[in-house]
Amino acid sequence: MTLFRGTLLDTPADPFTGGALRVDVDGGLLVRDGEIVARSAYDDLRRAHPDEDVVDLRGGLVLPGFVDTHVHFPQVRVIGGLGMPLLDWLDRCALPEEARMQDPAYAAAVAPEFVRGLASAGTTSALVFGAHYAPAVDLLFEEASAQGLRITSGLVVSDRRLRDDLLTTPARAHAESLALADRWHGVGRNRYAVIPRFALSCSEELLAACGAVLAEVPGAMFTSHVNENEREIAEVARLCGTHYTGSYDRHGLCGPHSVLAHDVHPTDPELELMAERGTTVAHCPTSNATLGSGLFPLARHVAHGVRVALGSDVGAGTGFSLLKEGLQAYFAQQLLGPDGYPLGPAHLLHLATAAGAQALGLGEVGDLSVGKRFDAVWLRPADGTPLAVGLAHAADGEDALARAFALGTPADVGGVWVDGALVGETAAVRAVAGG
Ligand code: GUN
Ligand code: ZN
Repeated sequence: MTLFRGTLLDTPADPFTGGALRVDVDGGLLVRDGEIVARSAYDDLRRAHPDEDVVDLRGGLVLPGFVDTHVHFPQVRVIGGLGMPLLDWLDRCALPEEARMQDPAYAAAVAPEFVRGLASAGTTSALVFGAHYAPAVDLLFEEASAQGLRITSGLVVSDRRLRDDLLTTPARAHAESLALADRWHGVGRNRYAVIPRFALSCSEELLAACGAVLAEVPGAMFTSHVNENEREIAEVARLCGTHYTGSYDRHGLCGPHSVLAHDVHPTDPELELMAERGTTVAHCPTSNATLGSGLFPLARHVAHGVRVALGSDVGAGTGFSLLKEGLQAYFAQQLLGPDGYPLGPAHLLHLATAAGAQALGLGEVGDLSVGKRFDAVWLRPADGTPLAVGLAHAADGEDALARAFALGTPADVGGVWVDGALVGETAAVRAVAGG
């Protein structure tokens, strides 16, 4: 067993329904075979377990591992394409890069960049838009398995509107998806997701094939995009003759296992439908700002009882850090004025951790309670950096957390654990292990 010592912050009770941030300054977690089996003040836990190894994570903050509910594997090399709205950005920036993934050697080079990008930002679980090519999706799952992250992903499918080399057919999508699910779903920490790119690029027949795969793979997830950009929404309404959410729902794709990204411009009937289905919206704030998609109406989602979590949306989003997404989510609500939802640090942490775990059906992670798996990120800024200064002068745990969202970057991540095991290795953790 291992005893982890540090300042622990998590949100086992939902702050959107009155729950408070949990703060344990100098707390202790006893971890056996990856599971948290005891939690209390460090001194008490140490007295009860004097002989166990101690990992000393003082001098920073220990948070539950981040859960990214929307991120694109093939877009890691195109982060930073500024100045275009969604459909232009897709045509000029994202889709040419996604087509390169048909070369397995290219995909094999991108896969470690992508998985390392997640882990180095403190993300331990993610719902990932895979590639349009099955061999590239295999390479993603292989790399995720090697690095140990919890990845839910799958084949991205489309059969209209995109460049020809990204298109498939309903029959081929069905067969390739089932074969991938057979190879990866439930293998290690991997799970399968059914992923039509967006209603604009998917015929009714293809969405029906997606519904069939979802029904045939127990425990699989569904994810896609919804209501992101006004031009796209008008086009979907014309093509599908229904609202955007309905285009998926009529094929049995919306349920508690479903995550729809963006939803910047929903109608009230769509919010009612999502709440009824238990579907989660992945809020992707830096992407919404980069593409000028709009300001996310979080208060309307909360009022309707729609579940919301955070997504980085790499590569329209500007990086892997859910700290940055949290800060940008806060900015967006501030900019909405009286229509904005007043987000505090506990909300931001909840969106980046427990809400994501719930969205992905990962009941075993999301906070640092007894009985959960030890998936955690240690924010440990180097001495003298702005975050180190900020933490040193924080009034309390909540204030420290606000500073982490304001100032924290992947450079401040001192260590990342999944199931109690280190993912990758950082200088800070090496120092601790050796000391
Ligand atoms: N809609 C369809 N594809 C994409 C994508 O790759 N990124 C974003 N942000 N929206 C999309
Ligand atoms: Zn996206």
